[in-house]
Amino acid sequence: MAAGEEKGHVAPIWSGRFDEPVAERVKRYTASIGFDRRLAEFDIQGSLAHARMLAAAGVLTGDDLAAIERGMATIAGEIRTGRFAWSIDDEDVHFAIERRLTALVGDAGKRLHTGRSRNDQVATDVRLFLRAGIDEIAGLLRAVQRALVDLAERHAATAMPGFTHLQVAQPVTFGHHLMAYYEMLGRDRSRLTDCRKRLNRLPLGAAALAGTSYPIDRERVARELGFNGVCENSLDAVSDRDFAIEFVAAAALVMTHISRLSEEIVLWMSPRFGFVRLPDRYCTGSSIMPQKKNPDVPELARGKAGRVFGHLVGLLTLMKGQPLAYNKDNQEDKEPLFDTVDTLVDTLAIFAEMIPGIEVNPERMRAAAAEGHATATDLADYLVKRGMPFRDAHEAVARAVRAAEAKGSGLAELPLAELQGFAREIGADVYGVLGIEGSLASRAHRGGTAPAQVLEAVRRARAELA
Ligand code: ARG
Repeated sequence: MAAGEEKGHVAPIWSGRFDEPVAERVKRYTASIGFDRRLAEFDIQGSLAHARMLAAAGVLTGDDLAAIERGMATIAGEIRTGRFAWSIDDEDVHFAIERRLTALVGDAGKRLHTGRSRNDQVATDVRLFLRAGIDEIAGLLRAVQRALVDLAERHAATAMPGFTHLQVAQPVTFGHHLMAYYEMLGRDRSRLTDCRKRLNRLPLGAAALAGTSYPIDRERVARELGFNGVCENSLDAVSDRDFAIEFVAAAALVMTHISRLSEEIVLWMSPRFGFVRLPDRYCTGSSIMPQKKNPDVPELARGKAGRVFGHLVGLLTLMKGQPLAYNKDNQEDKEPLFDTVDTLVDTLAIFAEMIPGIEVNPERMRAAAAEGHATATDLADYLVKRGMPFRDAHEAVARAVRAAEAKGSGLAELPLAELQGFAREIGADVYGVLGIEGSLASRAHRGGTAPAQVLEAVRRARAELA
């Protein structure tokens, strides 16, 4: 009797070498089936491509291949409909599927693992999973970008204060502000595309670590699975998870950008700002304070950035001490990776829906832009255009701001004679410059906040997204 068959246990596939069954606690500690069952569809895809290649190479018979294909179709159906019997006795998704296959089709199932190891198998599964995850996330990033562009177009001329140090700096348009996030998410998308290129290579063929003595055709398997090529070194293929780390790093930046936007939405929704409202379906109330409406979605998104950063550090740490080639440590790559994909998918999907629902209060934005002498730089530029050196203009305007502050008024409310006391160059046309519209319209170069430029940026964005 093989070890593990005592006490009604199902013996592990590798039990022949062992004198006693693995301790119950060790079984639970080492099993990954509780989470890696999520890889099942990719595991089946990889196995089918491997089996077809073995049959083409004459290592498997046509009958064996037909049996494997039939068995895998049954298993895929069982998994899809929740009828598959997952058991911790199977340790991981790879053993579970192989055992079921053998139960269904007999010896052909036992021949599937020829020329392969779980090491190159799991590395392949994780790459296939992540490739699908990246494609879904890239699509959702586009959806969020589209929502930003639509809102930006509607608010291409809506004035708001632009901030530095969270102090009113210069007027900008809300559309321009939103398009800043469009740019950030565009770079995020290109980072993911780049990461996808590097991960899209086939590990299978590396077997346990050194390759295999069977006459395999790795290019064929790569083609069938949609990989761009094969991993060039078997030791590297089974052991490095740098593609996963790279993905989580790109994901951490996505969450950084979403978190910044979230922070702004939370601020803008505060009654102190009153710039935007979120529809009730994106907010929740308080159990004690009846008047409260809390921006839970952006707050949670800001918080969830933290867990993705944690996964990045976790994966880097997982990798750094591992000697070549495969080590069981790598089994710990899955949960952080799955959670990162889930966090991004959920967060981006909810933002794509929520952004079109943002209700803007242009009056509050404009009133805030009119406070804090936001057009002081425009006055300095006006003086420079009349021949004053910029440093002197800066000084003259600073004195004018002080005078306005002392009276509790804005620069535009100071009478012409008083303004001329700070600089003789000032003429009656200065009031056009001190107005918000004039200030906005004057930043009329590519990348500037002028409404016409925001519409240009929107046009370019639409062409990019098309
Ligand atoms: N469950 C394992 C993992 O996730 C599969 C590979 C196991 N390989 C091994 N040599 N024990 O990494």
